[in-house]
Amino acid sequence: MCSIIGYFGHSEAAPTLVRGLGRMEYRGYDSVGVLTGSDNKFVLKKGVGKVSEVNAKLGLDQLHGSMGIGHTRWATHGKVTTKNAHPHLSNSGKIAIVHNGIIENYEELKSNLQKNGYKFQSETDTEVIVNLIQQNFDETSDIKQSIIKTVANLKGHYSFVVIFENGTLVAARFHEPLIVGVENDNYYLSSDVLGFIEKTDDAIYVDNEDFVIVNNTGMHIFDFDGTPVKYQITKVSKEFADVYKGDYAHFTLKEISEQADTILRTEKNNQFQQFINNIKQSKNLYITGSGTSYNAAEIAKYLMSKFAKIKVDTVISSELPFSPDYIEQDSTLIAISQSGESADVLEAVRIAKKSNTSILSIVNHLNSSLSQESSLVIGLNCGPEIGVAATKSFTSQLAILYKITDELCNGCINPDWVKVSAAISQILSSQSNIEGIAKNLKEISDIYILGRGIHLSIAREAALKLKELSYIHAEGIAGGELKHGPLALMDSNVYVIIINPNDSTYTDTMNSANEIKARGAKIIGISDKESDIYDYWIEIPPIDEPLYPIIEIIPIQLLSYYTALEKKTNPDYPRNLAKSVTVK
Ligand code: F6R
Repeated sequence: MCSIIGYFGHSEAAPTLVRGLGRMEYRGYDSVGVLTGSDNKFVLKKGVGKVSEVNAKLGLDQLHGSMGIGHTRWATHGKVTTKNAHPHLSNSGKIAIVHNGIIENYEELKSNLQKNGYKFQSETDTEVIVNLIQQNFDETSDIKQSIIKTVANLKGHYSFVVIFENGTLVAARFHEPLIVGVENDNYYLSSDVLGFIEKTDDAIYVDNEDFVIVNNTGMHIFDFDGTPVKYQITKVSKEFADVYKGDYAHFTLKEISEQADTILRTEKNNQFQQFINNIKQSKNLYITGSGTSYNAAEIAKYLMSKFAKIKVDTVISSELPFSPDYIEQDSTLIAISQSGESADVLEAVRIAKKSNTSILSIVNHLNSSLSQESSLVIGLNCGPEIGVAATKSFTSQLAILYKITDELCNGCINPDWVKVSAAISQILSSQSNIEGIAKNLKEISDIYILGRGIHLSIAREAALKLKELSYIHAEGIAGGELKHGPLALMDSNVYVIIINPNDSTYTDTMNSANEIKARGAKIIGISDKESDIYDYWIEIPPIDEPLYPIIEIIPIQLLSYYTALEKKTNPDYPRNLAKSVTVK
């Protein structure tokens, strides 16, 4: 949920660190800091706000020195203040740290350090790590030993980069991402390849429970026991460098607009057939995910039971720890995740593995922790998604889940992807209508989205998009449940979006729309069929019945985006959220 970066090399560190942090800001964006080192001296600047704002105010990129560390924060321990922003110095002022993750036993460690005379400036768990390193370094006078001793005492999950005033950088990884970029004698230690992709596409994905030391003798990687490990340099896809907004005002709009193309790019890769065979042979099939990825799982459940007659259990990843026996022995778990780094999803996978369950994953980041934990992986191939709200990754997840279901039912859906793509293009071309409707949502506080059957999961995904982007309280409701409670909420202050394609749910959903209309609420109808009942009609093209979900989410993504603009919030970086939720 934070991004960390370190640089050791022959150029000025600060401009590289600041550019890298700007690209990784999707991971957290409430405060930022940079520290550089030269001539045995540290210079540190940090502040609250986005990278560009703090840099404009403090000139982070003007600091001198050919080694340094930097951080963007998504607060976990302690409020959003300059004091809590990283980097943090040890008490001696000779060691500094940036950290991503959570130290679960930090209170116990802190009180031990306090007993030994250490003082703390911030409320963070991070300051505990750097002081523990100092204590261990003072005892051993050996950087490697001080790291081995420190990681042996830490509980939780973390990656960190530490800078020593004597000219050494160290980074360690425990269940949080850490990647080294290598460019001759220049080294980049980062949470994401985006931290250094402009400089090099040679990367080392550091294994879990390994640490890296970089100094004048070069780079060395060890496991947590101190044994040197062999590493491999991988060429990272240059497409990761392609994260510019181009002519679009925001990444979110760019990513929504790419979907006519990205749904065509999902491939049946060389693991696809094994994926299918594994599902066919599995005794029990579960699908897990968080947020939007969980909504995709719910659609898969519907598709697989209806078309492939396969019984599927879905489980919200963060709920599995509370019912670990839910997963039967020798089952199959499909884990869906855009980032492949969501802590909840990774924990669900680890729990499932204890029941000898095979893990199949559907991810966008092929080098992610989830891919490493899985026996088979299918990639979304939709390119980097920077906007915090999941948009194109959702429709790519659906496209893959449709392809899997179609294979399982021997081609009974037979999706015409070119037609789906054309339908998405048609919806994207009528944005001005949606932009106009968004103006009416500016002042409202509640919005409900109603759907039946497979459209219920889209209603829930729609509510999630509206909450994240427009900060309007939004709720997805099953059409038939209206009269069991939500009807009490309907009055003239309320807007209801009716997901109402002209399919087998149409008549029943229309009845619900009439009941809502009679209570004075305003209705936004998303349908291929016009009706007087709608105060606002968002037209979608007709398409084969099973495929409606993929196209009907697009106008809601647009509506959420334009409502965010009306409310003058930044759709790319909704408050309090982060793109990769690597904390539990
Ligand atoms: C919603 C959103 C989040 C993510 C969730 C899971 O727009 O972005 O709800 O869907 O945090 O993330 P991944 O898919 O990376 O595991």
